[in-house]
Amino acid sequence: MEFSNWDIFWAGSEEKDYWKEPDPFVLELIASYPPEKFPRVLDLGCGMGRHALVFARHEYQVTAVDSSQIALAQVEERAKKMGVPVKNIPGDYRAPLFADESFDMVICYNVIYHGLREEMVRAINLCQKYLKPGGVLFLTCPTRDDGKYGDGEQIAPHTFLSENSTHPDAVHYFSDSNDIDCFCTGFEVLSKKKREYYWKQDDIVNFSSYWQLTAQKIET
Ligand SMILES: C[S@@+](CC[C@H](N)C(=O)[O-])C[C@H]1O[C@@H](n2cnc3c(N)ncnc32)[C@H](O)[C@@H]1O
Repeated sequence: MEFSNWDIFWAGSEEKDYWKEPDPFVLELIASYPPEKFPRVLDLGCGMGRHALVFARHEYQVTAVDSSQIALAQVEERAKKMGVPVKNIPGDYRAPLFADESFDMVICYNVIYHGLREEMVRAINLCQKYLKPGGVLFLTCPTRDDGKYGDGEQIAPHTFLSENSTHPDAVHYFSDSNDIDCFCTGFEVLSKKKREYYWKQDDIVNFSSYWQLTAQKIET
């Protein structure tokens, strides 16, 4: 078995409490889009499953996808411990994985910008197809004000192979506001917020600036 950088990252993740705590903004989705109306949820790039598991606990039908088998094994173990069902699927978000209209909600939290801009566009277009009309996409991605912007080798416009990322060899694409609007073809933007904060790791203070987007697939 060949291990990716993400596998290596997740293999050491038992100490990473951050990746076990769901983001409060994701929790707000549960109140806004209840399981009775939005039952089928896809967590694309689920990591250790902090969001997949909380949705499963709230009785959504959850599918969790990640390219890291180690991340998925941790989701499986944690789901078993919590006694909640989560369907784990190894896969690459850049490739078609599901039939059209398979989901009512897709969550891509800090995932689909790990590559080139065109790969991000492809991933969002795929999410649009996976959603039923009226279904909701929630995604986060770094802005060009983020502390990592300009860090490492520039491999394409606004795309850097970061040296100071939370995992090794990370490619990041940094979006501006126009980008976000372009990405939303076929969606109505419900909310587009810039979230900015400082955080500390190993005594180094980092600045995060992220878009947080909620968009609804247009009903035709
Ligand atoms: C920053 S982590 C976020 C994990 C999770 N969404 C969360 O918020 O806890 C990014 C995740 O994307 C996954 N990933 C990276 N590239 C991927 C790809 N091409 N296809 C599927 N998953 C990918 C990684 O394995 C990792 O688990």
